[in-house]
Amino acid sequence: MKKIILTGDRPTGCLHIGHYIGSLQNRVKLQNDYETFIMSADIQALTDNFDNPEKVRKNVFETILDNIAVGLDPKNVTFFIQSQIPELTELFTYYLNLVSVARLERNPTVKTELSQKDFGEGVPAGFLCYPVSQAADITAFKAEVVPVGEDQKPMIEQTNEIVRKFNRIYKTDVLKECEAYLSETPRLRGTDGNAKMGKSLGNCIYIKEDKDEIIRKVNSMFTDPNHIKVNDPGQVEGNVVFAYLDVFDKNKDEVAKLKEQYQKGGLGDTILKKRLADILISELEPLQKRRKEYENNMDEVYRIIKAGTEKARERAAQTLSEVRRAIGVDYFG
Ligand code: TRP
Repeated sequence: MKKIILTGDRPTGCLHIGHYIGSLQNRVKLQNDYETFIMSADIQALTDNFDNPEKVRKNVFETILDNIAVGLDPKNVTFFIQSQIPELTELFTYYLNLVSVARLERNPTVKTELSQKDFGEGVPAGFLCYPVSQAADITAFKAEVVPVGEDQKPMIEQTNEIVRKFNRIYKTDVLKECEAYLSETPRLRGTDGNAKMGKSLGNCIYIKEDKDEIIRKVNSMFTDPNHIKVNDPGQVEGNVVFAYLDVFDKNKDEVAKLKEQYQKGGLGDTILKKRLADILISELEPLQKRRKEYENNMDEVYRIIKAGTEKARERAAQTLSEVRRAIGVDYFG
């Protein structure tokens, strides 16, 4: 039997090239060797978008289209929607007892997010607890491998803590520990140089971004503020254009030469940016073509997600019956 992969995306916006190199490419690479479940985490998205459900609803389809665009094959991969599987919410409820509030407040990813968000009247309990919900998502499928960006590592750690505690307290082995499958490529910075490319930071290049926008965004990239005249020596470190070329330019020797020339002086930003924009456009073109084919056939996309959700629900229900038995809440057999 193949091992299981479970991963997911928050449907809060279209997926961008940071997702692509951080997690989506790994999903594609692993899809034939693992049984793969990909979840649209709409419940999780609602924890900080509860007042904007329309946005979440729309992006469920956008994010699944992005997954298909990068090459995840709907014939092999099970796509499903979190909210349509009540077993996940039930499991979450059992897990909540196994996690302290202090532990939730220490989760580094949640902490960072809290510092970036402005929760006005206070942090919603649902938001603070979303790592526990994520533990339920992963373990309901007995997933052993979770391809995610590195910001999700704390979620995997927390999941495994819950797994160990559950198995110990209820003297069982129904739950399986999992591991994060991380990209070898370092995290892609935002087009503005920010350490993170984020939908809410407005510094993304989307997988479905059209050519003119790619050119515009690359042209607005941060390079070296002291590189004013072409002949001035330029800095490679901290230069966003080079950071992207390091990731996307397959001709590493040429990149090394360009860096040398840039540092000496005599290489203009315009040439570099043109090179990067061309590379991104040609990398994304086949993905966008594939996306279009499915966008033009949304009935088919609905069918894929509906069938996937049914399959996923059966799987989660199986785990839940084992979980209920382990806890002793299986009253009616
Ligand atoms: N937290 C993930 C993100 O923001 C989305 C997610 C929800 C997820 N449930 C998951 C990822 C389970 C992996 C496994 O991208």
